[in-house]
Amino acid sequence: MYSISQLQDLVNKHIAEKEYPNNPSELYEPIRYIMSLGGKRLRPALLLMACNLFDGSVLKALDPALAIEVFHNFTLMHDDIMDKAPLRRGKPTVHAKWNESIAILSGDVMLVKAYELIMSVNDSVLRDVLRVFNETATGVCEGQQIDMNFEALDGVTIAEYLEMIRLKTAVLLAGSLEIGALIGNAPKDQAQLLYQFGENLGLAFQLQDDILDVYGDPHKFGKQVGGDILSNKKTFLLIKALELAENLEEEELNYWLNAEDFDADTKVRAVTDIYNQLGVRQLAEEQMNDFAEKALSALACVEASSEKKDQLKTFAEELLVREN
Ligand code: IPE
Ligand code: IPE
Ligand code: MG
Ligand code: MG
Ligand code: MG
Repeated sequence: MYSISQLQDLVNKHIAEKEYPNNPSELYEPIRYIMSLGGKRLRPALLLMACNLFDGSVLKALDPALAIEVFHNFTLMHDDIMDKAPLRRGKPTVHAKWNESIAILSGDVMLVKAYELIMSVNDSVLRDVLRVFNETATGVCEGQQIDMNFEALDGVTIAEYLEMIRLKTAVLLAGSLEIGALIGNAPKDQAQLLYQFGENLGLAFQLQDDILDVYGDPHKFGKQVGGDILSNKKTFLLIKALELAENLEEEELNYWLNAEDFDADTKVRAVTDIYNQLGVRQLAEEQMNDFAEKALSALACVEASSEKKDQLKTFAEELLVREN
């Protein structure tokens, strides 16, 4: 049986060995760049672990695992344009280092490369795998559009926020796990349970991402701390704060949401102070833990060796205490 770190080594080695064409260099260099910046590589690891639950020969899942990581990095390249983000994994984002046109087109070709890689799965599961991949990719785009719409929208509810993060983030974790299970020839109902595990884990994961965006250590986070505050992202923290704020705090929060000319650090500090006064971080952590529990209940129902299931459990738990 493979350990978690062995599976991660397999993923990292496979990513490092992947070659891309040289010309035109503006198209392919950004791919090499973003893929070499590291990251947690959690989606390919989840895919391999899901396959490993049902079928120990995980090597056949390596190209699809790489496909998911390439797809994920494509979404990041475009997300960073949309979010006007300067930093990714501690380095300049692709659109900041090159330009937006380059980031758009490199991202586009990464999506195609992801399809190329996923085509390597066995014919017997290809149609199902492609169906999950297509549904996943569509969901991510829908979630991303809703995320952008929400920036300028008042009155977004927690339920609407949760549906938005389910689409932009959770379906990709869920889809990676389901694809891994399908490649491992798992029965459909078992693959579905892994999807549920991933969906709930993904919800918890994005809540943690929102928390880190405010409370992360700038030296460890790798992204601009406070980016969500600067762009009025309707995160769990902001929606809860808007729900709870009264009087002066409400006035101040609305002032910052409507301010057009402001000093970035001052806005981030002021909004963080309001979050602290209202205790919204703790509420977000409680919501995150609820989803983590739901994820683990789905995993507990999977019919596979408890040793292998424990691997996924440990991996999930570590993910939710991360610093980046
Ligand atoms: C970032 O994903 C986008 C979100 C869904 C929050 P990760 O946090 O997995 O980013 P990397 O790949 O580890 O850098
Ligand atoms: C990530 O949402 C979702 C996707 C990239 C699809 P965020 O915008 O919160 O991700 P980060 O924080 O930039 O990694
Ligand atoms: Mg975004
Ligand atoms: Mg972003
Ligand atoms: Mg984020």
